[in-house]
Amino acid sequence: MPIEALVFDAYGTLFDVHSVIERCEELWPGKGAAISRLWRAKQLEYTWLRSLMHRYENFETITADALRHACATQQLGCDETHVAELMRAYRQLQTFAEVKSVLAARKDRKRAILSNGSPGMLNPLVEASGLAGEFDAVISVDALGAYKPDPRVYQLAVDALGIEAGRIRFVSSNCWDACGAQSFGFDAWWINRSGAPMDPLGARPAQIVSTLADLPA
Ligand code: LAC
Repeated sequence: MPIEALVFDAYGTLFDVHSVIERCEELWPGKGAAISRLWRAKQLEYTWLRSLMHRYENFETITADALRHACATQQLGCDETHVAELMRAYRQLQTFAEVKSVLAARKDRKRAILSNGSPGMLNPLVEASGLAGEFDAVISVDALGAYKPDPRVYQLAVDALGIEAGRIRFVSSNCWDACGAQSFGFDAWWINRSGAPMDPLGARPAQIVSTLADLPA
């Protein structure tokens, strides 16, 4: 089926969640990378747990909770000034090097973001990156009140773009997200930046590549 739209995951795919490592390292010397990794892992875990519990809180709340927990795990002090500062940093994450040129070269297709991020996190981030003009839609799960990989999340993109699932290429560097999107019915591409093994989740992404630059022109 011809592809009519490209829908991108945000965190980890377009924006580097670990671009906060430097600031974490300044705050907690020797622990910056560990905090960043734990922070991200807990953030995702809380999205899955809260979805299962039907106790949705927006991604901003979850992300701040995950940071506090990551610091507590490492027995590092984390006051609300630290949380506020790092949450600000999260609205200014770096984009991966290839993102701008990849988006610019695909103006002939509809391009959108579909993310767990709440509008209050996602919109300032897209603005700060200078990419706002590249997208036909920036879609947040927040209106639904559930997180990826709930199939209803992927349906949000179908509804927003008015394009059937099989004609949408979904692009994510999160393997489980690409698996969820393929299971839903998208043509899902996993950007396996780190050479990670496949998550065995019963549905495999249609394609696996190393960077966004490997997407077909
Ligand atoms: C997102 C997370 C999964 O942007 O990275 O939805």
